[in-house]
Amino acid sequence: MNTSFKAFRIHAIDGVITRKIEPIQLDLLSPGNVLIKVAFSSINYKDALVSKGLNNIVRAWPRVSGIDFTGTVVESSDARFGPGDEVLVNGCGIGVDHDGGHAEFARVNADWVMKLPDGLDLLETATIGVAGYTAGLALDLMELNGLSPQNGPVLVTGATGGVATIAIDMLAQRGYQVTAMSGKSNEVEYLKNLGASEVIERLSSGSTFKPLEKAQWAGAIDSVGGSTLSWLTRVMQVNGVIAAFGNAGGAELETTVLPFILRGVRLIGVNAGSPMDIRQKIWSKIANEYRPIHLKEIANVIKLEELGHHMDLTLAGESKGRIVIDMGK
Ligand SMILES: NC(=O)c1ccc[n+]([C@@H]2O[C@H](COP(=O)([O-])OP(=O)(O)OC[C@H]3O[C@@H](n4cnc5c(N)ncnc54)[C@H](OP(=O)(O)O)[C@@H]3O)[C@@H](O)[C@H]2O)c1
Repeated sequence: MNTSFKAFRIHAIDGVITRKIEPIQLDLLSPGNVLIKVAFSSINYKDALVSKGLNNIVRAWPRVSGIDFTGTVVESSDARFGPGDEVLVNGCGIGVDHDGGHAEFARVNADWVMKLPDGLDLLETATIGVAGYTAGLALDLMELNGLSPQNGPVLVTGATGGVATIAIDMLAQRGYQVTAMSGKSNEVEYLKNLGASEVIERLSSGSTFKPLEKAQWAGAIDSVGGSTLSWLTRVMQVNGVIAAFGNAGGAELETTVLPFILRGVRLIGVNAGSPMDIRQKIWSKIANEYRPIHLKEIANVIKLEELGHHMDLTLAGESKGRIVIDMGK
């Protein structure tokens, strides 16, 4: 295939980061043994950082961003995949060390490719993406650590974000009582429609510091980190479980050992960069017992031309739900 196609590509020239949609040919993409026509990709927080060259995430430029996508195999020299297979690729370095999903075509290593989970289509799977995978992995790890609906309410922070909206949907479907914490007071109805029974305001930065406070939550899914995660350690019930994966509000963690030794609080780190056997297990749960039912309300489907604007909204904390890019036929 030697026709040109559109890609959202980020360049670093003399230390200056620029990004644009440009026509490229296959030989400009990172090498790989599976060529995929991208159907849908999305914006994750990491993509927004990459698009501005922030946090030294990308070491070699130019780079096509996009840490997840779904699509159809065009050609493969690996026997596990053949033309016409509908597949997904999440993480594995795409959009960071290897060109990603924000282009009409992607070329990747077969070891990173998964067939679409039974019962989910290309748009649904892309709407879930790395964000929904992270929510599913967090829920699985929390349940392995004793969380169940009868233990009490679960708090989801950064509630209008990509991971959080899908987490709220999954938790509610599974019978949990969900409280959403958000900085967007105008999105209370949206969050309730996804399954939150209550919406509370984001913490103000000047909250007081006591080693332990009133025990409120059986579980917490935290996108925010920083002072929010510090506070969470102090307000969990006995044996409460926190899944920590995000730093949208900060990377520091100030706490004491008291929540852990007096209340048995379990602080679990969640990293979506799982090996393939874990990915298969979690995606199967997402397609079945964790299945979100509000994906249409969570997805805002945009065109590639709108990607830069939505990356900026994501960086400013102003986006809502999942931004999904329709790469066209
Ligand atoms: N560990 C992993 O493997 C992994 C995987 C996926 C994502 N992540 C991380 O998880 C976090 C969430 O990802 P995402 O894709 O859901 O991001 P997102 O869609 O941008 O959502 C983040 C949400 O956090 C809240 N927020 C933003 N800035 C904030 C601030 N300064 N203080 C407090 N809250 C703030 C906002 O929600 P409200 O306005 O509703 O409060 C925002 O919608 C990011 O830090 C991302 O890098 C990690």
